[in-house]
Amino acid sequence: MLKIRVLGSAAGGGFPQWNCNCKMCNGQRTGSISAQARTQSSIAVTGNEKDWLLFNASPDILTQLKQTPQLQPVQGVRDTKIASIFLLDAQIDHTTGLLMLREHAQPLCLWCTEPVKEDLSTGNPLLNVLSHYAGTQWHRVEPGNCYDAIPGAHDIKVEVLPLLSNAPPYSPRRDHPVPGDTVGVLMTDNTNDRSVFYAPGLGQMEPHVWDAMQRANVVLVDGTMWTDNEMQEAGISARTARAMGHLPQTGEGGMLEWLGKLPSSTRKILIHINNTNPILDENSSQRAELDRQNIEVAYDGMLIDIQENKTGTSSN
Ligand code: MLT
Ligand code: MN
Ligand code: ZN
Repeated sequence: MLKIRVLGSAAGGGFPQWNCNCKMCNGQRTGSISAQARTQSSIAVTGNEKDWLLFNASPDILTQLKQTPQLQPVQGVRDTKIASIFLLDAQIDHTTGLLMLREHAQPLCLWCTEPVKEDLSTGNPLLNVLSHYAGTQWHRVEPGNCYDAIPGAHDIKVEVLPLLSNAPPYSPRRDHPVPGDTVGVLMTDNTNDRSVFYAPGLGQMEPHVWDAMQRANVVLVDGTMWTDNEMQEAGISARTARAMGHLPQTGEGGMLEWLGKLPSSTRKILIHINNTNPILDENSSQRAELDRQNIEVAYDGMLIDIQENKTGTSSN
């Protein structure tokens, strides 16, 4: 049965970020706010609790693997439970961890779109570097297609959706993304038809995305920023959340508005949370607002069992 382990719930930079003294990062470091540290964006998915499909390879992957006994090798002198790696985009926070997996005995089984592969062979040539180590075996992912035999995803159907977000700064398509620069997935457990929609980088709602979210029992979506101009307000960057390719939670057409239209039975979880986002503070008014709306905030180590409707409640 489909289970998800959140390996890293923070956006690029992690929380706290090494060079950041914003209210949240400083508050976490000094203990003046109640907030858990978080590593950079990645989840692992399994259908049989033996093999896993990794979504994104975070720069924090080695720490994440050490913290996750389910993913540690158990047989053979060199072994891994990660049967394949699926990249949702070519950003640093989702790809750099590939280099940390270079000691693998076989080429890494890698699933991504053509534009992502291109960025990882040019602007951010991780795949070229890796070819001198384990190497990769690339499986082309076409946005709009459905895959039902991805290693590690036993009895799981993976529907790939093109998303409007942004291409990385080192991409020739920065600020002019094409379909495939960022994708999301609707994963369905074939044994019981329950499904989860996962999109850590979602910049704009589109009909096919909204349709997938309505079909899902669990939505695990972009929680990068609370307000569009959060980075500006913190004196960090002039770029807005939307310009970076992330739908802010608040404001007209923001994520909370969309989540509010989903049935109350849909489990709603925010992930890929930027270190400036006040929802990281468990006692913030913004977090209280999420609680009121029955929206959860993902944390590292979180186990999401899509058979269950709510945290801690069982299906039987
Ligand atoms: C993003 O999600 O927009 C990027 O990962 C940001 C970054 O890490 O630079
Ligand atoms: Mn990111
Ligand atoms: Zn910060």
